[in-house]
Amino acid sequence: MKTVLITGASRGIGRQTAGELAGKGYRVYCGTRDAEANGRPAEETGTKAIWITLDVSRSDSIRQAAKWLATRETSLDVLINNAGIYPDQGLSIFDISRKQLNETFQTNTFGPIEVVQAFLPLLRGAAAARVINLSSGYGQLRGLSADVPSYCLSKLALNGVTLMLADKLRADGIAVNSADPGWVRTDMGGSSATLSVAEGAAGIVWLAHEAPQEFTGRFYRHGQEIEW
Ligand SMILES: NC(=O)c1ccc[n+]([C@@H]2O[C@H](COP(=O)([O-])OP(=O)(O)OC[C@H]3O[C@@H](n4cnc5c(N)ncnc54)[C@H](OP(=O)(O)O)[C@@H]3O)[C@@H](O)[C@H]2O)c1
Repeated sequence: MKTVLITGASRGIGRQTAGELAGKGYRVYCGTRDAEANGRPAEETGTKAIWITLDVSRSDSIRQAAKWLATRETSLDVLINNAGIYPDQGLSIFDISRKQLNETFQTNTFGPIEVVQAFLPLLRGAAAARVINLSSGYGQLRGLSADVPSYCLSKLALNGVTLMLADKLRADGIAVNSADPGWVRTDMGGSSATLSVAEGAAGIVWLAHEAPQEFTGRFYRHGQEIEW
């Protein structure tokens, strides 16, 4: 049975993706900040889904999650760095604080780097592993907005992480890509967003399950390659 770990799977796109991959027969590990979660069935997202405590902004939490998963699995086929925050309402590049920039990067950018580092032994244990980094149109060079400062910069940098990891992991046969789900009706996207959560998750499920393994170091939206 193939395995997948999704960070930030408690709600939104992460939760939807978890349910869909469970439906396709994956054993799904749903990352959550809930400290007591390890090993509990994540019933709402599918019978094959299991909660795992994972706060991506904390090194100790990432280390413990990787240690715990290594007691249950010898390989991890798919890692989806989905957890993210969007804390920029009312702020611009003129008034964003160093503290807020740091907090956003801790979750959106440094978290995915450290999660990949910690789970790399398990990813290397799979025949053809995949890493998917949830980025955004706001992380595209032409999508940067001075009114969404820390989020845009954190996703721009996350795209850089994708390129670096894809390069370093090519020899291991591990594919690493960025994905923009589009504007999705979640707590983050809000009720005016154009896409349902299922429509937003579809491109992520495609990258996890269907995309050719040789596709790596690229940026996708709804299964189509887009520019950085
Ligand atoms: N919605 C959109 O329109 C849109 C557009 C482009 C990109 N994206 C990206 O897609 C991803 C998912 O977004 P979404 O719309 O589903 O967001 P969401 O509904 O706000 O859900 C965010 C998820 O991330 C988790 N999370 C936040 N900080 C975390 C941390 N430090 N450690 C672990 N989990 C953490 C949350 O967990 P808690 O429940 O514990 O808070 C929640 O499960 C994000 O990376 C986002 O940037 C979304």
